[in-house]
Amino acid sequence: LPRHQEANKENRSNTDEWTNITSTIERLTDRKLLSNPAHPLSILTDIIFSKFPEQEYTRANFPNPRVSVYENFESLNITSDHVSRSKTDTYYLNKDHVLRTHTSAHQVESFRDHPTPGFLIAADVYRRDEIDKTHYPAFHQMEGGRWWSPQGTSSVKELVAKINQDTAKIPVSEIKIIDDTLPFHDGNPKQHGQHQEVCIAITNHLKRTLEMVVGDIFENIALGDPSAPKEPLQIRWIDATFPFTSPSWEMEVYWQGDWLELFGCGVTQQRVFDRAGYPERVGWAFGLGLERLAMVLFGIPDIRLFWSEDPRFVEQFTPGVVSAFKPFSKYPGTYRDFAFWLKEGTIPEEFHDNDLMDIVREAAVDLVESVKLIDKFTHPHTKRNSLCYRVLFQSMERTLQNDEINVLQDSIRDSLKTKFGVELR
Ligand code: PHE
Repeated sequence: LPRHQEANKENRSNTDEWTNITSTIERLTDRKLLSNPAHPLSILTDIIFSKFPEQEYTRANFPNPRVSVYENFESLNITSDHVSRSKTDTYYLNKDHVLRTHTSAHQVESFRDHPTPGFLIAADVYRRDEIDKTHYPAFHQMEGGRWWSPQGTSSVKELVAKINQDTAKIPVSEIKIIDDTLPFHDGNPKQHGQHQEVCIAITNHLKRTLEMVVGDIFENIALGDPSAPKEPLQIRWIDATFPFTSPSWEMEVYWQGDWLELFGCGVTQQRVFDRAGYPERVGWAFGLGLERLAMVLFGIPDIRLFWSEDPRFVEQFTPGVVSAFKPFSKYPGTYRDFAFWLKEGTIPEEFHDNDLMDIVREAAVDLVESVKLIDKFTHPHTKRNSLCYRVLFQSMERTLQNDEINVLQDSIRDSLKTKFGVELR
């Protein structure tokens, strides 16, 4: 292995003039969102993994996002003048180590280490970026790779036949390809030294694999959502450039009126296989950003929600299930209790929760998050019944002021008195 390949793991904690990781980002590296199977990103990961036959694709785990500059960049032909290597784009631990900026950082070892010809990785990645609804300095990617070896084949024709046989096994997806690309051309060339039939066979296997994955995922979503379009999913292939694949593409999916960019992928550069110690192998790789797809599938409106520790987010999802996100307020709420004696001779059952709901709704419309009965008792001597409800006032748009809650509270109390003749306590 090259001397600098796995640059001394201990040195990861040294700092120098390259160090630009902050304590906030440091904390994010400890969150390990994917280790919770009920997190939407894990649910999505598991669904995608399940589309790939297990005996063909090894699921590899890389829990530590701290990698060497060699792994993240050099092993992938990303030269030192490439923009992505600059300190303004990447979190450096020190001059030799970074927080991985993509899961491709593990391609070389994954093409080297597994007993199967394919691998899949899902992991957290980090890029210095603005924070808004769709950008966050930490996010998650999935990486996949597949190789073939010419060993045991005596000619290019046999290798091509072997790849095509594997392609024929991929279930065909009912999708509509709106735009495709040439197998390769001057602007998106095949590699020197790779036979064009081999390049085309790998490309077909790659494209059919990713089409099968998206076709399945979006079909299942459509099944669970009667309002989803019945026409086949539309996708398009677009030429792209990555230093570690050639030719390269992006796949986009048409969903709810927009083209959604999903995969970056391509035919793996021979130098990546050289570095893995298997110069004779050929194959492909893809990368997929998980957040944007999860936002679409779960209806999650803001990327920051994935990092929420609020139980109203964390506890609303179930492993294995894609469910629609139920929004909750990010503004603080205020509780107010309403305790009252029912009219003499009235039993608690005669006052229904919905009676209060209606009064509350009329007074406060959308400013109430919940209404709960918290206490109910009968006076031992007078036998009068008392109820106590707790109302949570909370807006989806702003922080409510005490004065305005007081007004709402008074009007609810008035209505309780006039409509139900209760005696407020
Ligand atoms: N690593 C690339 C990115 O983050 C995606 C990619 C992976 C492209 C594998 C080609 C092959 O954009």
